[in-house]
Amino acid sequence: TIVILDFGSQYSQLIARRVRDLQVYCELVPYHARAEVLENLNPCGYILSGGPASVYADGAPHLPEYVLTTDKPILGICYGMQLLAYHFGGKVFPGAKREYGPSTLTVLKKDNPLFSSLPATELAVWMSHGDKVTQLPPGFEVLAQSENAEHAAIGSAERKQYGLQFHPEVTHTPQGKDILRSFLYEICGCSGGWTAQNFIDESIERIRQQIGDGQVICGLSGGVDSSVAAALLHRAIGDQLTCIFVNNGLLRKDEAQQVVQTFQTEMHARLVAVDAVDAFLEALAGVTDPEVKRTTIGEKFIRIFEAEARKLGQVDFLAQGTLYPDVIESANRHEDDPAAKIKTHHNVGGLPKDMALQLIEPLRFLFKDEVRKVGKALGLPDQIVWRHPFPGPGLAVRVIGAITPERLDTLREVDAILIEELWASGWYQQTSQAFAVLLPVQSVGVMGDGRTYANVAAIRAVTTEDYMTADWAHLPYDLLSRVSNRIVNEVPGVNRVVYDITSKPPATIEWE
Ligand code: XMP
Repeated sequence: TIVILDFGSQYSQLIARRVRDLQVYCELVPYHARAEVLENLNPCGYILSGGPASVYADGAPHLPEYVLTTDKPILGICYGMQLLAYHFGGKVFPGAKREYGPSTLTVLKKDNPLFSSLPATELAVWMSHGDKVTQLPPGFEVLAQSENAEHAAIGSAERKQYGLQFHPEVTHTPQGKDILRSFLYEICGCSGGWTAQNFIDESIERIRQQIGDGQVICGLSGGVDSSVAAALLHRAIGDQLTCIFVNNGLLRKDEAQQVVQTFQTEMHARLVAVDAVDAFLEALAGVTDPEVKRTTIGEKFIRIFEAEARKLGQVDFLAQGTLYPDVIESANRHEDDPAAKIKTHHNVGGLPKDMALQLIEPLRFLFKDEVRKVGKALGLPDQIVWRHPFPGPGLAVRVIGAITPERLDTLREVDAILIEELWASGWYQQTSQAFAVLLPVQSVGVMGDGRTYANVAAIRAVTTEDYMTADWAHLPYDLLSRVSNRIVNEVPGVNRVVYDITSKPPATIEWE
């Protein structure tokens, strides 16, 4: 295992994903993590992330004792490099000027293990820092320099400690992956082997041990995370798993059938499919306020889920598709931060206390791209593995204004055309989320010889890493044109299509 200490860089998770891509398992822990946290990890090396602080500033985060005294290799990136210099007897100069952007690195020590795999001694790198190391710690030498940083890479081969002023983890440092690979394999001696298949094999063992002969329930939404969690559990414990799938009538076209088909018919998983369409639509009748829609749907879902869970009799575990970014986010908070309490049941809240369910989260150490690889290796169809995120309240927050079965059907047809064209053109996987919205607006049109007065549909497609900020996707005009033509020709009641070109912020991804 590689342990990455997080000093608050915006790139910390990216470092972890790069290391995992290189087939080395790593965990990202906060810089204030106690030594006990690391005991089970048995690190073969440390990476220190960048961060916004300045090493001499009051309250600046410093290296924990277990890193200061380790004989394992250390790679410090940006602030991490400054920490190495600061703690091991060098000097850091609080720079008045920030260096930000592309730069050219000149490697001075070509035979150093960190750089020996590179084909040339000059390479493009990405810088983002204010302070710089001005005096090396004893035993360190300069390995590379850039236009603005005389100490762009430093290291001590003997101590196996290295510092990089630039960011090897970002794509703007094209050979960064090679440098990280050298650190992991040449310097730390990692053995690799972190693959989807190995993860599946090890998880199956772990799940069987944890569950014993217990019974597990899992709420299946049709999304990637819950589907992969369920498929993995099913592979491990078969009929000890019962999936509960609630059709709330707010799903996309054919989605309910597809989930049932995949899990019940193909995988032969025990699946309770609840048809609650009428119950949800009745509860939503006349509701137009987005937040009231959300709470109405949330409460109804919990009540139905509870009722179904009770019918199963004795259940011991509740499975959830929690992913690593949520785990990191909870861990990164200091213990005295009131938000530090991990929100355990945030996907399925309010299960009755007397059920005393233990939580099982088989994906809690995976990033989204790893979940997709695992899903693929488990044989789930592409339509599920690559599915964009879909909000719990579903189409209810995409039919703007009042929700009726007719308007839901209209939106389903519009959305299905968009999604079909995105898949056909290869754009589905290049967008993070794409969907249609049915507006409570009528517009005038002309069709054949007749005037129409019908609905307006909006198309939304965004690209984003984390869904906190997003850019509208720059879809090709001919694709948009095809989508629009098909919608107005094939979907009765829609005579106009508009494309949403707003980023988040200031807009949100959803319209409600
Ligand atoms: P916004 O619209 O806030 O959406 O930019 C960010 C991401 O969250 C999803 N989303 C929801 N997911 N329940 C959910 O489970 C909700 O009420 C909800 N609202 C938004 C949205 O689809 C996007 O991926």
